[in-house]
Amino acid sequence: MRKQLGYKGFAAMSSDDQKRRAAEAALAHVPEGCVLGVGTGSTVNHFIAALVKSRIRVAGAVSSSDASTRLLRDGGIEVLDLNSTGDLEVYVDGADEATRHLALIKGGGAALTREKIVAAASRRFVCIVDRSKVVDVLGRFPLPVEVIPMARSYVARQLVRLGGQPVLRAGVTTDNGNAILDVHNLAITDPAALESEINQVAGVVANGLFARRGADLLLVGTDSGVDTLKP
Ligand code: 5RP
Repeated sequence: MRKQLGYKGFAAMSSDDQKRRAAEAALAHVPEGCVLGVGTGSTVNHFIAALVKSRIRVAGAVSSSDASTRLLRDGGIEVLDLNSTGDLEVYVDGADEATRHLALIKGGGAALTREKIVAAASRRFVCIVDRSKVVDVLGRFPLPVEVIPMARSYVARQLVRLGGQPVLRAGVTTDNGNAILDVHNLAITDPAALESEINQVAGVVANGLFARRGADLLLVGTDSGVDTLKP
């Protein structure tokens, strides 16, 4: 297939190639022998593949989803229970949107609650994205909210009061047995405040704003390399 021509006639990479670049760059932030946290999604799948191929030997990984657990085990990496590891040295995960201040929207893969737990338990969060994910203001990507099934309609009404348009993600049950509401048309000018406000609604398990605990490092795969952003 012919590559699209990008800036100054260079062959533009696909967003998947950019994801792979960011994922490979994250290996430099994985200390030998550590227990690391591993997120979920296509960018993380590249990271797991690169980690398995690399010479880095980790003591094990805490996984944020059943899908990542399978890939880690297939690659010969032991998957550990967060209850037995204590805090983790580093967490590597993707995002659906990221600002230059390193606030994120996550949960496109429905793994947001476990991702939030592993991020919270990690000393360093290295986020890996392709260029299309970097935005000035969060919210074009619908904000995922994981809800207890019996509270679905109640939570949806509260999200409407906050100015959003929640849509039930059809046919999706999270690894925790819950439903996902994707909230459209939110103007997220203060991500940390909105994250707290949504967390107060009874029936919400977690929301996809990672602002109170955002990333510590953002690796952005681009056509020309990898940009590194710090808060
Ligand atoms: C899963 C996530 C993912 O990190 C996010 O959806 C990005 O996915 P991808 O790397 O496939 O673009 O939050 O819940």
